[in-house]
Amino acid sequence: MTNQKVVLVTGASSGFGQLIAQKLACGYCVFGTSRKEHPTSQGVEMLTLDVTSDSSVESCINQLLTQTNRIDLLVNNAGQIHASMIEETSLEQAKEIFETNFWGVVRVTNAVLPVMRQQRSGHIINMSSVAGLIGAPGQGFYSASKFALEGYSEALSVELDPFNIKVSLVEPGYFKTNFNQAMLQPTAIHSDYDTVRDVIRSSVDQAIAQGDNPDKVAQAIARIASSSSPRLRYRVGNEAQWLPRLRAILPDKLFRFSARKRLNLP
Ligand SMILES: NC(=O)c1ccc[n+]([C@@H]2O[C@H](COP(=O)([O-])OP(=O)(O)OC[C@H]3O[C@@H](n4cnc5c(N)ncnc54)[C@H](OP(=O)(O)O)[C@@H]3O)[C@@H](O)[C@H]2O)c1
Repeated sequence: MTNQKVVLVTGASSGFGQLIAQKLACGYCVFGTSRKEHPTSQGVEMLTLDVTSDSSVESCINQLLTQTNRIDLLVNNAGQIHASMIEETSLEQAKEIFETNFWGVVRVTNAVLPVMRQQRSGHIINMSSVAGLIGAPGQGFYSASKFALEGYSEALSVELDPFNIKVSLVEPGYFKTNFNQAMLQPTAIHSDYDTVRDVIRSSVDQAIAQGDNPDKVAQAIARIASSSSPRLRYRVGNEAQWLPRLRAILPDKLFRFSARKRLNLP
């Protein structure tokens, strides 16, 4: 039992999740998750969780509730990326991406909602992306999974209003984490994509390597978590500010041209 607010951050073994958990640990009782076993460190108690597994989610949430009896903030951060053209990505791989990025969020959210409803309070922060606002070439299914998350979160925010449970989306641009290290690769090769395939892979690697400092995302989440009336959407990072605006004002043809140019695509 604790007097502090209880937070669960999924995917807290690295990148944003680790920074978010560590930042929130000054002031909240924070649990982080990983698929692998991790010791408690910097005030963050680590639980084992694979968001693609019903039984893993059930056991993780049970373990948390046995210790705390409540949950105040859920940060659905765990995610999976791929760099492959849509036609070179098998349906199986596309489903795998959705299992983590979309259904994983749904699973964990479903597991905490009965407790938050009973408390008549709670906050769910879902890690989206600029790729959830604009279709990202070479990351088509990643983008689609984040678009799905956007629609789901918007609907959920209205449904949960009567129970005083808030829902927020964080939409970062590219940030310097190790996200691309576990990037799923094409499952099929079509020679027509030979040039584009390599360019896409190196563009994603370069964008992440030259990305913003991920601490900004952790700071943003700390601010959102402490807000008494959090918004639904928060864009974080330079790209997240200008890219959606550009998308809104440019005609389709011009936007496609600028997207190809940005990614050095032929
Ligand atoms: N970096 C960026 O530029 C960027 C931009 C926009 C949005 N995002 C989003 O930010 C989130 C975090 O990404 P990151 O950049 O911090 O990358 P990261 O360092 O690779 O972190 C990904 C985390 O997700 C966890 N994870 C992956 N699959 C999982 C599964 N099936 N079940 C449970 N946990 C799983 C990993 O934990 P384990 O491997 O330990 O299980 C890891 O802790 C993702 O949702 C991503 O879409 C990132």
